[in-house]
Amino acid sequence: MPASGVTEREARQIAQLFADLVADGAALGWVDPPDDAEIAVLLTELAPAVGSNDARAAIARTFTDDTAGRIVGFAYWTRYTRATHRPHVDLEKLAVARGARGCGIGTTLMNALIASAHDLNVEVITLDLRGDNTSAIRLYQKLGFERYGLLPDFVAVGDKRCDKHFYSLDLRR
Ligand SMILES: CC(C)(COP(=O)(O)OP(=O)(O)OC[C@H]1O[C@@H](n2cnc3c(N)ncnc32)[C@H](O)[C@@H]1OP(=O)(O)O)[C@@H](O)C(=O)NCCC(=O)NCCS
Repeated sequence: MPASGVTEREARQIAQLFADLVADGAALGWVDPPDDAEIAVLLTELAPAVGSNDARAAIARTFTDDTAGRIVGFAYWTRYTRATHRPHVDLEKLAVARGARGCGIGTTLMNALIASAHDLNVEVITLDLRGDNTSAIRLYQKLGFERYGLLPDFVAVGDKRCDKHFYSLDLRR
């Protein structure tokens, strides 16, 4: 994603991607599907952070629908704001449309984000996720992320409680 941000059309597609996945029960940090306005704010804040090298976002699109393409994947990391954590970044979201899964898009988005972090001399990429998100856990482990912590029964989804897992990838190694 360029520092100039995305178009309104792209923002709506990213909002739709997140909303569909959350409605489908995806563990993306929302209980209810986010609306277009919430995602527009998120993207508007992300763009200048990309410009100052405090964020990177990767977009996957298909060109089968029309020439402008349809967004089927979106992921981004942001740099830690705390002064002592500035060499490090946190993967905030990784999302691939249900119909586009299992063909390497998640891996490709992650590899792009890891490469962009490497290029900016980022030292550690962290992420956290729900312990029952086995497909994402396999993906992160495949890419070299290692679990460094676990909070039992921490994530509240209605009455249900799930473990929260913490993973990191040390790019200095
Ligand atoms: C997790 C997610 C991003 C994976 O995207 P994807 O495009 O299907 O991933 P890939 O095709 O690149 O597969 C990468 C690896 O993920 C794992 N994986 C993917 N789908 C899986 C499944 N259904 N079951 C088990 N493992 C799976 C595998 O290890 C796979 O590697 P392999 O093909 O070499 O075995 C996608 O399922 C998704 O968007 N889920 C909902 C949102 C979410 O949970 N995001 C992560 C929050 S932290």
